[in-house]
This record gives sequence, structure tokens and C-alpha cells, in this order.
Amino acid sequence: MSNLRGNEECNARIYCGRDSGRRKVLFVTSEFEDFVKVGGLGEVSSALPRALLRWCDVRVLLPGYRQVMAQGKIDIVGRCDSSADLPPCDLGKLQTADGLVVYILICPELYDREGSPHGDLKNRDWSDNDVRFARLGLAAAELAAGRADPDWAADMLHVNDWPSALAPAYLAWRGENIPSILTIHNLAYQGLFPRESLVRIGAPESSYRINGLEFYDHVSFLKAGVFYATHVTTVSETYAREITHPEFGCGLDGLLRTRAHENRLTGILNGIDESWDPLRCQHISTPFEAGDWKGKRANADMIREEFGLAVSRGPLFSLVARLVHQKGIDLVISAAESIVSAGGQIVVLGKGEGHLETSMQNIASRFSDSVGVKIGFDEATSRRIFAGSDFALMPSRFEPCGLGQMYAQRFGSLPIGHNTGGLAETIEDGKTGSLFRRASMEGLMGAVCRAFSTFASKRQLNKMRLHAMARRFDWQHPATSYDSLYQRVIGNRLRVVTRADETLVPNPSP
Ligand code: ADP
Ligand code: GLC
Repeated sequence: MSNLRGNEECNARIYCGRDSGRRKVLFVTSEFEDFVKVGGLGEVSSALPRALLRWCDVRVLLPGYRQVMAQGKIDIVGRCDSSADLPPCDLGKLQTADGLVVYILICPELYDREGSPHGDLKNRDWSDNDVRFARLGLAAAELAAGRADPDWAADMLHVNDWPSALAPAYLAWRGENIPSILTIHNLAYQGLFPRESLVRIGAPESSYRINGLEFYDHVSFLKAGVFYATHVTTVSETYAREITHPEFGCGLDGLLRTRAHENRLTGILNGIDESWDPLRCQHISTPFEAGDWKGKRANADMIREEFGLAVSRGPLFSLVARLVHQKGIDLVISAAESIVSAGGQIVVLGKGEGHLETSMQNIASRFSDSVGVKIGFDEATSRRIFAGSDFALMPSRFEPCGLGQMYAQRFGSLPIGHNTGGLAETIEDGKTGSLFRRASMEGLMGAVCRAFSTFASKRQLNKMRLHAMARRFDWQHPATSYDSLYQRVIGNRLRVVTRADETLVPNPSP
């Protein structure tokens, strides 16, 4: 990915040399696995800033949800004033045990609630999500510009998904010359609000147009990010290409095509945390390594027992996912009976849309010896499932990156995925798992039939397990790509500044 030009690299180095010598990056997110997570964004937000610490002074900003405020000592370092309908708030700061600085936006009236980052206990979105996340975006812009913490300002802002996507827009509206990157983890969630939101969030009337944040007569936070950010990334190269086409572009494919032509859209595949190592994992009953198939079998027996399944020597399929349409859960529900009648079993761990939860539970009652379902979110159980299952089902209709298929491979469970997004890049068809072309019941069943054949040949099965378990997917490579991009984006900013005002040209450090 490194298409950095020499002079840009040099400029970036000189520019950063002015202060601490390390690029200062504010990483803004609505989920952070250390404290609160709904899906993959939380995992990425905890891992990527840590991997970047090697080169950059990366600091995280997230809202002070109830779960976050319970984390212990938070020092108050600054304040953000009210603006339009956004209430004033305090800026807190803490340091994690391993040294990552995390800023917390403290505003109890917006964030101190029982529920998830985005909604209540019944999964209904909070009705004031426009104000909640505009508050996050504006605070991010102010903090980056050095107006919230008197001791720190950022060279660059990195925002993630719609909840923080308004930050680059606030920078533009306030005339702050700070470069920004928006990472799209999922284009399907756009943060759409009625036109009245424009006034509530304090956006200028002039921004409500096609070259701005207007999207089919709504305010779109995600479109604001795509439009105003200096650069857009997404979490795999395949998804970066897919979203420039109408089928995957969720109505933003035109703008994204423009960004791609301008060389301002990049795909960088996610990594996974090193703790996903079956020999060192604390959560599985029998740690094992590649080649120790007895160890793998012991985990399979264990998970069958945990899910109340009959003892079996047939293949065990797993599904660990948010139970939503994107993940192709309905396809698994349709395929379940065939899998069971062919001698397979299925374990499911997930939480999500009520009708999918109910259908899953119905299948489990119908085939109680062969299908086990737990509704809930529990990482320890997910690890035991990957350790015990033979195949991991990921029939997602689209999948920007996907982490489950990487975890599965590390734990010797061969992923069966739709050939899309990150699944296409991380599953080697016939070698470490299986890919199918159409997200349909027939497509999935074709791959499931191949899985039965693989399972019937222990030699082939173990060979594929060895290949899968040898994959690493660590954060080193993606972090290097992000750092190169940071250099390029910061370097471009310097060129703009120097053209506008020669007095801002920094002196090279001695
Ligand atoms: P997404 O972010 O779209 O949900 P990802 O695959 O990127 O998809 O990340 C989801 C993460 O959450 C994966 O690590 C997956 O294993 C995990 N996960 C999903 N549902 C559950 C659950 N019910 N319990 C435990 N872990 C889950
Ligand atoms: C999103 C995507 C998923 C990706 C994750 C982390 O939730 O749906 O594919 O892995 O973000 O980037």
C-alpha cells in the first residue's frame, strides 16, 4: 500500500519533528474492547492504536458511557463548551495498564444510560443519537485542534464509522487545517437523521446539499465523513473496491468512486489480537497446537457437552455472529435440517434481531441432539466454540473484513465463507477453508457438501487445519500500512500549509 513519495515522507518527518518527534494522532471511536464492545469495531479500536504506538503518539477518544465511567480513576483535563443543542461536557483522561492514553467525553445526560453504545436494552436506537454522536465529533475536532486539553493537540484525526464521522466536517466548518482519515467498518450503518438535525448539531445550512452531508433529504453522518475527510479507508481491499459499485455502495458508491479516482480511498485489512493462540488461550479447557488433533477433539467433546449435544463423530459446524441479515443467518437456518440429516451438528452463539433469535431457538428445540444455540454475547464461549468446531460458518451477504474467520483458522476450525470483502482475502479456498460465490442457500450448501467430503478424509482435513493454523493475521502489517498513510496524509497537509503561508514552514530539527 505504501505509495508514499520521498518528499512527502521527508516533509512528514520534519513536521512531526517539531514537537514530540512522533506523529500525534487522535483515534476516535464509539466502541473500545477494554471497556465496551458490540462488534469488531471494539476489537479493532483496542488493538490498532496499541500497534501504532511504536511510531505514533496515538490517543483514543470515546464517550463516557456508564461502562466506561466504571473503569476507575479518570482525571479531568479540559472542557468543551455547548454548541447548538450539544451540551457542555468535561474531557477526562486515563491511561490503561499498558500505557495507552484514553480521553473520555464526560456528559452524563448523553452517555450515562443502561444499554449499549447505540441503543437501549431492547436494542432500540437512542432517539437523540444525532446529538450524542455530534457531541463526540465536535469534541474530537476541538481536542485535535488543541482546544480541549491544554497540553495536547493532534497532527491528524482518525475517525471510525458514522458515530465519529462528523469530526472532519466540524474541522472544515471551523477552518481548522488538520488532516483526517475516516475508516469505514460498515457502510450499511450511516447515521441518518431528519433534516431538523442540522440545527440541533450546529451544521451550517450550506452543508445541506449533495456536496455536503445531505443524503436523500436526510442528514448523513457517514456521508459527512466521506465528503469532508482528507482520506477514506475501509477494512479490506476487496470491500474498498466493492463499495464503489451500486450493489455494495449503499447509495454512496458515486462519491466513493470519486474518492477512489482521486486516490483517496484505500483498503487495509484488519489484524487480530495475539491472544487468539490455542496453546495459550486461557478460556479453552484443553490448550492445543497444530498437529495435536487429540487436543482439538477434547475441545470438541467439551463444547458438545456444554451445548447439550449428543456424542458424535460427525462434523461440528459453528456460527458465532451478530444475528442480523448481513451475516446470512437465515441461510444457516435454511441449511440446518440438511446439515443435521447428513450427520452434522451445529453450535450457535449470537445475539441480534428478535425473529432470527427465535428461529434459531426453534431449530435447536427441533433438533436438540444436533443443534445447540446460546443467545448472548460471551467471548470465552466463542473461543471454546472455535477451538471445538471443525467448520465455522460465515455466509455473510457482505463482510467489510470479518474477524471470526481469522479466529477460526487460528483455532483449527475451517471457515466456510461467502466470497466477499475480507472473507475473500483471508480464506484460501480449498486450502484453509472454503469460499462460495453466491450468498444463497444453494451456494452455502455447495460449500457445506465440500466440508463433509473434507471431513471424511482425515488426511485432507488435517492438512487444511495445518495450513489454517499457520496463518498469523497479526496487527504488524496493517499498522505499518496505517502509519505510511498517516505520513502521506500529514505530509500532504504540510504542502498545502506551506503554499498558503510560508511562515509556517517548519525548521528541520537538528
Ligand atoms: P461485526 O463487527 O460485523 O459483528 P466481525 O467479524 O468483525 O463482525 O466482529 C465480530 C466479533 O464479535 C468477532 O470477534 C466475533 O467472533 C464476535 N462475536 C460476535 N457475536 C458474538 C457473541 N454472541 N459472543 C461472542 N463473540 C461474538
Ligand atoms: C464491522 C464489519 C466487520 C469488520 C469490523 C471491524 O463491524 O461488519 O466486517 O470486521 O467492522 O472492522
